[in-house]
Amino acid sequence: MPYVYIKTFGCQMNVYDSGRMRDILLQQGYEQTEDPEKADVIIVNTCHIREKASDRIFSELGLYAPLKKANPDLIIVVAGCVVQAEGEEFLRKAKPADIALGPVSYHLLPEKIEQVRLARKNGNKEQSRLLSAYFDGAEKFGCLPKTFGRQNACAYLAIQEGCDRFCSYCVVPYTRGQEYSRGSAEILSEAEEIIRKGAKDITLLGQNVNAWHGKDESGKEHTLGWLLRKVAELDGLERLRFVTSYPSDMDDDLIAVFGENEKIMPYLHLPVQSGSDKVLRAMNRRYTRSEYLDIIGKVKATRPDIAISSDFIVGFATETDKDFQDTLDLVDEVKFASSFSFKYSPRAGTVGATLSGQVPEEVKGERLTILQAKLQQYQEEFNAPFAGKVVKVLFEGAAKQAGEYVGHTPYMQTVTAQSSDDLTGKLLDVYITAAGLNGLKGKIEF
Ligand code: 5AD
Ligand code: SF4
Repeated sequence: MPYVYIKTFGCQMNVYDSGRMRDILLQQGYEQTEDPEKADVIIVNTCHIREKASDRIFSELGLYAPLKKANPDLIIVVAGCVVQAEGEEFLRKAKPADIALGPVSYHLLPEKIEQVRLARKNGNKEQSRLLSAYFDGAEKFGCLPKTFGRQNACAYLAIQEGCDRFCSYCVVPYTRGQEYSRGSAEILSEAEEIIRKGAKDITLLGQNVNAWHGKDESGKEHTLGWLLRKVAELDGLERLRFVTSYPSDMDDDLIAVFGENEKIMPYLHLPVQSGSDKVLRAMNRRYTRSEYLDIIGKVKATRPDIAISSDFIVGFATETDKDFQDTLDLVDEVKFASSFSFKYSPRAGTVGATLSGQVPEEVKGERLTILQAKLQQYQEEFNAPFAGKVVKVLFEGAAKQAGEYVGHTPYMQTVTAQSSDDLTGKLLDVYITAAGLNGLKGKIEF
């Protein structure tokens, strides 16, 4: 039995993609292993979003290169956004890699593995290292297996890939290509399949998920609100979420879904990036601060208890102290339940990297510390009132601590609870005994 070891960096889309690569190889008779030394194929799925993420890949490959001495048949595959961004250059730099696959090419995995094996057997040096980096989203999804391996209780389903927005800091349009929405019939049958395989909480994924558009059986065009209602009808599904949304694509129909359907969880990740109109313009974000706040107002009016989360970039080119203060003020206004925040990392090939007025690293660091302190304060404030309450938690599996299980609330807070029974996959009432910055502790109510 050949073994595959998979290591994933980056976003949820990469987690989904890694799962699909696993399913492709399981169909070919492989088994998954958690031990790279046992592997016949190692897949490293990479992220290019910031320089730090991108650089990690080379140290990661350094860990696996020596394994080729013990097992000369080992094939190292590097997949994902770094490959797409660097193309031919990648194979030149990443010596241990035998196969490099862009994120829209991974359905070619078995074929490429076979080609490399054959080339090695025939001593054909030229064919023993291969690159595939192209952009056909339709082909990728169409070629993937229709059956899935066992799913976590919380599972991802990619409904959309790529992006046409060209935010000036972002590599995604270059690494994932143009916006492509999968067809609704294909999405619904995949949702049914992953529910059969154990999914209870599905997150619909896309780089710009609320740009999703598609037709029903009669050929009528619809947007994401319609799709959410359709998926929510499926038996066995308990919870439904979608990520990541672009503010200007939050149409009224989509907002209405939060108020009408209990399976749609009260959680919305809506990255604002900056609270300054000037910086938003420089980022080529197509909304203003006040438009963003209006959307949040509508969402909160529809679902008052909703947890709003966001991404922030500090120190984008031209950001002054005053612009940064606008971001802090916006945080005070929205009181985000959780957030991700980053120092701006200029990426080659993007407009942002060419702008004058780049902010010194030191200033970025200071601003990030200040912003994160504020974000943490609101995250704690959001979590605190849960202490002493009973909340429904879907448990995903064992926690690091022996005898503890970990799960999530409808608001995406992490909950840990002790149990002698295996709680994996169970949706239970949990009494919250403590609430902190990073999550909740609970006791199972029987
Ligand atoms: N530098 C820093 N952060 C970035 N992000 C995207 N591109 C960059 C960059 N060049 C952040 C954004 C985005 C999240 C996924 O990563 O906040 O929403
Ligand atoms: Fe990273 Fe973006 Fe690629 Fe996800 S889509 S892996 S965040 S570069």
